[in-house]
Amino acid sequence: MSTDRTEQLRAIRDELVNLKESPLYEYRQRNNYFPVIGQGSHHADIMFIGEAPGKNEAETGRPFCGASGRVLDELLESIDLDRQDVYVTNIVKDRPPNNRDPLKTEIDLYAPFLERQIGIIQPKVIATLGRFSMEFILRRFGAFQANQKISQLHGQVIKVRTAYGQASVVPQYHPAAALYNANQRETLEKDFQVLKQFVTKEEPGTMRLL
Ligand code: URA
Repeated sequence: MSTDRTEQLRAIRDELVNLKESPLYEYRQRNNYFPVIGQGSHHADIMFIGEAPGKNEAETGRPFCGASGRVLDELLESIDLDRQDVYVTNIVKDRPPNNRDPLKTEIDLYAPFLERQIGIIQPKVIATLGRFSMEFILRRFGAFQANQKISQLHGQVIKVRTAYGQASVVPQYHPAAALYNANQRETLEKDFQVLKQFVTKEEPGTMRLL
C-alpha cells in the first residue's frame, strides 16, 4: 500500500536520481552506480544515519550492505531489531571516489534531502553512525554538545527539538570501526544497548527500499 510518506520519499528519490549538479553525479553514471536513498520502515521510531555509500552500496542502491552493514545487522540483532524495524540512510547519497571522506560541499548539497527524510519519517531517535553524521545532526538541531568529540558523546542520549517535537540523538561510532578493532566493537555493543529503551516493535511486512 502506498502511503503519503512513501509518496514523499519517492519524490526525494526521483530528485536524487536526477541530481546532475552533484559533483558525484558523473562518477555515479560512469560506474553504473545508484544513488543510495535509504531503506527500512517509513514509520520507524529509530533512524540510523551513516556517512556516504561505499562500493557495495553504490552498486546495489542499498545502504550498509557490505562489511559495515554486516556489523550493523549484528548490532541491531543484539537489541532485538532488524532492518525492517528501523530506517537506515546516509548524509551523502552518492559514493565519493575511493571511499574518501565526504567533502563539506557534498554534505551541504545532500543535507536538505536528509532533512526532508527526517521530517517525513519523524523518528523519535536519531542514531548517528560516525562523526560526520553526528556533527551534522547536532549542529542542525542546535545541540550545545555540537562542538564536542565523538569520543565524549558516543552512547549518550542528547535531547533535541525538531519541527515535529522532541527527539533523542544517540551518537554511535561508525560500524566500520568495529571491523578491525575489538575494543571499538565492544564499545559499539555497549552503546547500542542504550537504544534498547526506545525499541518498540511494529507490524512485520513494512519494509521499504527508497
Ligand atoms: N558506510 C556508510 O557510512 N554508509 C553506508 O551506507 C555504507 C558504509
